[in-house]
Amino acid sequence: TAAAALALSVSASAVFAAGACDDGEIVIKFSHVTNSDKHPKGIAASLLEKRVNEEMNGKVCLEVFPNSTLYNDNQVLEAMLQGDVQLAAPSLSKFEQFTKKFRIFDLPFMFKNIDAVDEFQNSETGQAMKESMTRRGLLGLAFWHNGMKQMSANKPLELPTDAAGLKFRVQNSEVLKAQMAALGGSPQPMAFSEVYGALQTGVVDGQENTWSNIYGKKFFEVQDGVTETNHGIIDYLVVTSTDFWDSLPDDVRDQLGTIIAEVTAVRNAESTAVNAAAKQSVIEAGGTVRALDDAQRTAWVEAMKPVWEQFKGDVGEDNIAAAQAINA
Ligand code: LMR
Repeated sequence: TAAAALALSVSASAVFAAGACDDGEIVIKFSHVTNSDKHPKGIAASLLEKRVNEEMNGKVCLEVFPNSTLYNDNQVLEAMLQGDVQLAAPSLSKFEQFTKKFRIFDLPFMFKNIDAVDEFQNSETGQAMKESMTRRGLLGLAFWHNGMKQMSANKPLELPTDAAGLKFRVQNSEVLKAQMAALGGSPQPMAFSEVYGALQTGVVDGQENTWSNIYGKKFFEVQDGVTETNHGIIDYLVVTSTDFWDSLPDDVRDQLGTIIAEVTAVRNAESTAVNAAAKQSVIEAGGTVRALDDAQRTAWVEAMKPVWEQFKGDVGEDNIAAAQAINA
């Protein structure tokens, strides 16, 4: 009945109001997929929430939804374009449908560490990438760091040949699919929220991710071990819709932009340490961690690096050269 519907909608808005949003505040929903603690993105999002709600109280109300509770990464950008969510920080691999430029970040062994990623992103080319999807309605506000990717499977991975024949969960990215194919593995794209279950039930044999994700989602508990390949990176773009950003009053947009920039600087400086702590936590929880010696590492580089050739047209040889110059 209409009365029941009214009662329902009143109680739904009462639940919503139980968050700290006041009447008249601009509500910003920030959806992400990782843990909110012991994780570079989760910590940064929580800090952003705290600062915005303290410093912009009365003007803006920011609510963070972590752990894919609102959307997973495969849905969030569509939801953003519909106006259902205003901020997100998907990994750069998730922008596949919007731009091929970001493929450089998925190429194996492109960046030697997160400092190199940071330097590349802060170059003119990197900064321009934030605005490369405005035609499609998305605007990047900041790059947030996670860390270097490691490989895990349900058997020991010491040489790339150990990966042959295995099914690996990958993010939905052509580069990552090609990388697993180069190892003789079978890439299985799936949402982050499904990975633990897929590893546990044997739908896939292995995966690649950062220490903070391997620890945060307990992947190590359902794997033989984790091999410290450091073969790639996971990094994020804090993204909004151009419609939403343009709709903000100038003072609100400026203050929000400043807070995002400050949170970015503070938390990006800590991302490597957060991942090192997560690695330590994996070891303390009884997970097996395998380091590679020089010869083993060279074998992984030789197996994966030919993937660059397939994508150099998409990412630009000049950009590859610029990234390599930073590594040197
Ligand atoms: C993944 O899908 O593995 C990651 O992008 C998840 C994340 O946001 O760190």
